[in-house]
Amino acid sequence: LSQESILEMRQELLTTLSITQGEAEELALQLRTVRDQFAELHMVYQSGIDEVLTKVTILQREFEATHEHSPIEHVTSRLKSPESLVRKIVRLGLEPHVPAVRKTIRDIAGIRITCSFVSDVYWIASMLERQPDLTILQVKDYVAKPKPNGYRSLHLILEVPIFLSDRTEQVPVEMQIRTSAMDFWASVEHKLSYKYDGEVPTHLRAELQTAAERAADMDVQMERLRAELNGSASGTHR
Ligand code: GTP
Ligand code: MG
Repeated sequence: LSQESILEMRQELLTTLSITQGEAEELALQLRTVRDQFAELHMVYQSGIDEVLTKVTILQREFEATHEHSPIEHVTSRLKSPESLVRKIVRLGLEPHVPAVRKTIRDIAGIRITCSFVSDVYWIASMLERQPDLTILQVKDYVAKPKPNGYRSLHLILEVPIFLSDRTEQVPVEMQIRTSAMDFWASVEHKLSYKYDGEVPTHLRAELQTAAERAADMDVQMERLRAELNGSASGTHR
């Protein structure tokens, strides 16, 4: 977030929030302070990602050792940039103070897990839920209850302790768990949404909804095939 982008943001603040020049100036300054303080906190959030990634790796390794193949297909992670953090603060109209921001914005650290089967989505979530050093702050089940646009995924906000030299920090990590079909859909929807600046034309929205239903059908079918694979009709694990 450069000096120019702060000035640019001040201009944006002036036009979007109807505040005075002086107030915008003040807010831009506060936001810059928040940005700088978060730059220092990056180390903490990155450590939160690392801790949770290790947990996922251990599950993966265990599964590979005992069952040949792991239900986890892909794992990616990302740290929200100070720039998009500041944008989110402005978008949500939050007080530009670090403690408040840390409480409210819980997707600074993000991990996404992709797996083959819907049952694996819940299996991974339950493995993590059972770990005594993780606290589940929130569960949003967009698999059971998809978003109106068709989006499906299981979202967890996990809290993990980070042990520093002189203190322990509790770090929230947003985890998205989805099947490959859900992931495929979400990545296309995200690109369209980006291209149309969030205002996807009606006919494309309808098409995305159909595609989402097809992806969900495919997940059901894959789950059936998986039951065959395991030699059981129930489709449950092992
Ligand atoms: P944000 O303020 O965007 O973080 O969302 P929120 O607080 O409403 O939380 P939610 O759990 O609904 O979404 C968090 C994240 O899930 C987003 O940042 C995206 O990565 C993903 N997501 C949610 N909805 C959609 C969607 O409709 N399409 C796509 N492609 N991704 C989505
Ligand atoms: Mg987000």
